[in-house]
Amino acid sequence: MLARSEKDKLLMIPGPTPVHWEILQALGEPPISHTGPEIAAIMRRALQLLHELMDNADGHVFVFAGSGTLAQEAAVVNFVEPGQRLLVASNGYFGDRFVPIARAHGIDVEVLAARWGTSVTPDELARVLDRGRFVAVTLTHVETSTGVMAPLEELVTVAHECDVLCIVDGVCALGGIPEPMKRSSIDVLLSGAQKALGVPPGLSILGVSHQAWERRERRSTPVNAYYADLSNWLPSMQDPQRYFSTHAVNLMYALRTALEIIVVEGFEARYARHRQLAEQFRAGMAELGFEPVTDPQYLAPTLSVLRVPHELNPHDLRQELARQGVIAAAALGEFADTALRFGHMGNISAAEIAQTLAATKSALAHTRTGAEAPGHSR
Ligand SMILES: Cc1ncc(COP(=O)(O)O)c(C=O)c1O
Repeated sequence: MLARSEKDKLLMIPGPTPVHWEILQALGEPPISHTGPEIAAIMRRALQLLHELMDNADGHVFVFAGSGTLAQEAAVVNFVEPGQRLLVASNGYFGDRFVPIARAHGIDVEVLAARWGTSVTPDELARVLDRGRFVAVTLTHVETSTGVMAPLEELVTVAHECDVLCIVDGVCALGGIPEPMKRSSIDVLLSGAQKALGVPPGLSILGVSHQAWERRERRSTPVNAYYADLSNWLPSMQDPQRYFSTHAVNLMYALRTALEIIVVEGFEARYARHRQLAEQFRAGMAELGFEPVTDPQYLAPTLSVLRVPHELNPHDLRQELARQGVIAAAALGEFADTALRFGHMGNISAAEIAQTLAATKSALAHTRTGAEAPGHSR
């Protein structure tokens, strides 16, 4: 069962996602010593389960207090050196975020941008990498601004043919869509806690393959960071009783509980549930006149970015939806004035999808009546 907040409203934004009451209860336990044997046992279990979820048995996994953005920065600064060339393959707002991160660290960045609502294709990637001398490429598995799921395996294959390291942003995917590092040859996979894993915000998560770590050890310059330098964290991940920086003790309880919930559900069953709920949600919303802004071949199972019926203002509709008990997110960039974003990931079920559809139906009726009232303008 999911815990509710904001006076019992249902949080259907693309992260943070609604939190299962067992996870919330774990979070609320009293803190314990960050270097004691109890937290070490909890973290060892969480890290073991993350290794399994990421299919990264012979690589390293890192979890520390932070967010998705810190995980993006840690990935860039540990695997690309100042002056080296990084290609940012961007499908939208969060892909673009790698650009200022890399520039802040003196990295030479080039951007390959897809039209919003579509993805960079393997052919386009191959063409740019062929002429580039790039050491790494960033790929965003699910772009949360556009609802695009990139053709990850094909993109990674192309990058490896050009001997380029792949940094994959799995913030809006890990725990809801398969991201098998070994099977898909992903070098670095980064994520956060607050989306498909169903944990409250506050953790940066990184998986690093064995080969990527070896490559990192051959760097010719020191890592230009302290907190985000993964070699500072490694001893503390291998033995959580070794101090580098205070572990986010309560979030570690929550993460461990969330991962146990995922294991009980089963990885494949969880991915299938995400696919089914996405289809149910989009079919129901289509009946109400909402269509994805996303190219149909790239629709992500974790969120939908939907164009609202043309006569309506998405900002008014979002406010009315909140009055009906459901929180949706504003759309970003070029979709900001025509669409809304809905998350459907983590520990939600068909009940939350049904509630969102019912609330949207009634919000539509209220907004249309309001729009017809004299003096109302769009
Ligand atoms: C795909 C993606 N990458 C990175 C981020 C940044 O994560 P955070 O907001 O936790 O810093 C987000 C946040 O929504 C995201 O969706």
